[in-house]
This record gives sequence, structure tokens and C-alpha cells, in this order.
Amino acid sequence: MEVGRKDDLAALRDEILALKRERNALIMAHYYQRDEIQEIADYIGDSLALARKAAETDADVIVMCGVHFMGETAKILCPEKLVLIPDAEAGCSLADSCDADEFAAFVAEHPDHTVISYVNTSAAVKAVTDIVVTSGNARKVIESLPADEKIIFGPDRNLGEYINAVTGRDMLLWPGACHVHDRFSMERILEMKREHPEARVLVHPECRRSLQLIADKVGSTAALLAYARESDAREFIVVTESGILFEMQKACPEKVFMPAPPDEPGCQCNHCEYMKMNTLEKVRDALRDGKPSVEVDGEIAKRALRPIRRMLELS
Ligand code: 13P
Ligand code: SF4
Repeated sequence: MEVGRKDDLAALRDEILALKRERNALIMAHYYQRDEIQEIADYIGDSLALARKAAETDADVIVMCGVHFMGETAKILCPEKLVLIPDAEAGCSLADSCDADEFAAFVAEHPDHTVISYVNTSAAVKAVTDIVVTSGNARKVIESLPADEKIIFGPDRNLGEYINAVTGRDMLLWPGACHVHDRFSMERILEMKREHPEARVLVHPECRRSLQLIADKVGSTAALLAYARESDAREFIVVTESGILFEMQKACPEKVFMPAPPDEPGCQCNHCEYMKMNTLEKVRDALRDGKPSVEVDGEIAKRALRPIRRMLELS
């Protein structure tokens, strides 16, 4: 890195640390955030860990470096706190694949079903949900329900298929998907596996079922990281958003982590462009200006809190 750029970065970091102390703020980051944001965060985690941490912090301000639904979850859990997100436009294609009115109509057509929603949803979808889950606890939560319980699962079809397969359930699935995870190339991953036969394949459950079936480990970002730490393997093919490689490499400097390629050669589509919209400059600006803040309609927030709380109780 050039000297000038290094000094700028150090000055920006100092500014953020000073503002953070002044505001009694906690900076949280998802594993898909840019490396430099993960470096300054007080807490890094998967969606479940971020929700748990938000629920228990005594900070006055939460800066949620992730995507919008993560900020919303924190705000619903801590309505009295100022919840900031560095970029208000940082959305999620999976959350967008589930329109709240259409989902509510689907739920209304199946009044005898329990509604389980993945955390990657808007507050309005959570408001018509019985239990929220993340990829880190979906299996546990669903296994805690009676075997004959009728369930609607939305919006991620791939995660739903995974849970159906490992639990033997027959949940009704909403046909949503994440544009990053739904795009990994089986052919190119098998090619990598031929070149690195000893490598373990780590797959996020938002990937297609065919990829889940060739995985050594299917799990949330935190579960994949834990597997990499504990495994005696030296090489790993990582089939999820490539931001996780920063923490994997930091935790296991002696191991080799290879990002899996998407199906379009030359395309950077194993990057979530929404996650990467956040920058250190935007974190500084948010802390300095007290915006953009996350706001959730009071009635929707009240209804969405119940299924989020149930998730935290059950996991
Ligand atoms: P995790 O809960 O596994 O961190 O996943 C969040 C996400 O957005 C995956 O695309
Ligand atoms: Fe949403 Fe996919 Fe980005 Fe995760 S990787 S935040 S599911 S768009």
C-alpha cells in the first residue's frame, strides 16, 4: 500500500475511534464487509450473532455495517437506540425477492401453517411471521417443532430445500434466492476439486441443493469459519460471498482458502455489491452526522419483534 494512502487510512480510523467514544457507539460488522471495516469493528459475526449482540449491548448507538435488514433487526430489538447504517441503499436481493403483500397473501391462503421466515426479509414480512430464523439456527428451530407441524418457509428456496432434506420435513417454500449464492458454478467448483483433491468444500445453505450435496460442510458464515478453524485439512474451497475469506485467513494463516467461482467467467459475482457499498468513509460520516438511521413503523416493529424474540429464545 502507498505511504499516503496508509496515512489517510490511519487518520480515518482514528477519527472513527474518537467519534465512537464520543457517541458511546458499538460498531458491528458482518463477515462479508470490506476487510478494513472488519478491522475496525468491535464485533464481527453472522446474522444470528449480530442480532444477539444488538439485543444485549448497552451502547447508545449501534452502527450496523451490513445490509438494511440487519439494521432493521437491530432497531426492532432496540427501539430506543440510534441504529445507524453506513449506506441506506445497501439492500439484499434475497429480501427483495419476497414482497410483503404477496407473502402476506400466501400466508393467508394457508391459515393452518406456522410461518418461518429467514432473517433476510423486510420488517413487514417478519410482521406476518411466527418465528424468524437465520442459517445458523434454522435447523435447530425447525427441529424443535412437532414433526407433523405444517410449515411455510420463506424466502430462500435453497435454504428451505436444505432444511427439508436434513429434517425430513415437507415445508412449503417461497421461491426466493440470493443473486450471489444462486450463481456459483458446479462445473468450475468440480474443476477446482480435481486440481485440489484434498481441499474441503464449504458451502453456504443459500447455494443450490446440487452444491450442498458435494459439500464437506454446509453452514452459516460463522459455522463455515468454525469448521475451517477446527479442520485438519489445509485447503478449502469456499462457496459463499468472498468477504468471509478475510476472517478465515486471519484465523488460520497457515491454511489456503480458495474462493469458488460464479458461473460467468471474469465476473465478480461472488461479491455481494450491497455489502460492499459500505466504506470506512461512510462509517465515519454516519457516526459524525448521526445518519442514515434505521426507522421502522411502530406497528410493524411491534409485530416483527415477537418472531425475532422467539428465534433468540429457541436458539
Ligand atoms: P449468515 O447468517 O450465514 O451470516 O448469512 C447472511 C447472508 O446474508 C448470507 O448471504
Ligand atoms: Fe443478501 Fe445475498 Fe448479499 Fe447475503 S449475499 S446480503 S443474501 S444479497
